[in-house]
Amino acid sequence: MKKKERIYLAPPHMSGRELQYIQEAFRSNWISSMGSNIDEMEKQLAAYTGAKHTLLTSSGTAALHLALRVLEVGQGDTIFCSSLTFVASANAILYQHAIPVFIDSEPDSWNMSPKALERAFEDAEKKGKLPKAVVIVHLYGQSSDMEALQEICNRYQVPIVEDAAESLGATYKGVQSGTLGRIGIYSFNGNKIITTSGGGAIVSEDPDLIEKAKFWANQAKEPALHYQHEEMGFNYRMSNILAGIGRAQLEVLDQRIRKKRRIFERYNASLQSLPGFEFMKEMTYGTSTRWLSALTVDPDVSSSTALEIIKALSDENIESRPVWKPLHLQPLFKGAAYFSHQPEESVSDRLYEHGICLPSGTNLTDAQQDEVIKIIHKVVTST
Ligand SMILES: Cc1ncc(COP(=O)(O)O)c(C=O)c1O
Repeated sequence: MKKKERIYLAPPHMSGRELQYIQEAFRSNWISSMGSNIDEMEKQLAAYTGAKHTLLTSSGTAALHLALRVLEVGQGDTIFCSSLTFVASANAILYQHAIPVFIDSEPDSWNMSPKALERAFEDAEKKGKLPKAVVIVHLYGQSSDMEALQEICNRYQVPIVEDAAESLGATYKGVQSGTLGRIGIYSFNGNKIITTSGGGAIVSEDPDLIEKAKFWANQAKEPALHYQHEEMGFNYRMSNILAGIGRAQLEVLDQRIRKKRRIFERYNASLQSLPGFEFMKEMTYGTSTRWLSALTVDPDVSSSTALEIIKALSDENIESRPVWKPLHLQPLFKGAAYFSHQPEESVSDRLYEHGICLPSGTNLTDAQQDEVIKIIHKVVTST
């Protein structure tokens, strides 16, 4: 019997115009790190997000690394970072030989807990060593509660880096996610709401920060004919070919957000009444893109656990995933300090243990989604 076509979690979804821009790069022979696709995509991204200054990079991770570098993060500095996230958020901290301190989520938005952040700052102040920056991650397409977090960071005069890799297009009080901190970063990895196959961007209100980032992204090349280098740089630029993909993708970003939200609505309508099922809430302060439709399954109430559901979907060739394993639980960060939401309550541990991210690709058909829903109903009612 022919195996059923695999349903992926968040595969790339081309608009159809990508090749036109790629061909433009070929026609003009600007197939490297300069060209009109780069210029246009940077302009488009600025226009969409309202960010004043933008720089395209080879990945979101590279953008994060540059962000920490321009904030002069160095050996032995501490950086506060959301714990419930992909490892890239904190790898950039290690690249700069700095020390991550992990901050828990709060239960409603699943994003950084202002309470935990407050306690982390109090502790840092007591020890006489404030962090050099706070990396705030916006999870699964939803902004963190930026005002509450900004109030704390501003009080201690510590800059915010917004890791908006998963939240391009989300808003907070009408403002685009990624543009509220001192620096924001986006990812255009293949699984993101729009993609360049691989790529990222760094944005800021401050032109000097982006200028510096550009300098380091380009091997710290001094303006001299003979390749003069006074500092260590990186090769972190995006290619003009990939920016061609990004131009076409940005044109359909609003469409993609609408589809992601529709996918969520359909899951929500047919699964939310199942005992113990609770979808990630959309906070009243903003709009979530619902990059991934995510929920928790309470094993004390449901007849199935999150892992049993993931396994049942996998048996039918459908990819779903647990919620991120919090970084404070990762062996890589063993021994790192961690501040939970309440002294006795770690929210991210619970979200990880009971969370599921369901297939959320914008090219998912209704029939495929119905299949996912049917399997989940079957597991839950048959156990
Ligand atoms: C929260 C978060 N930060 C950073 C990254 C890194 O982005 P990239 O894969 O473009 O390096 C990702 C995803 O890949 C992510 O989900």
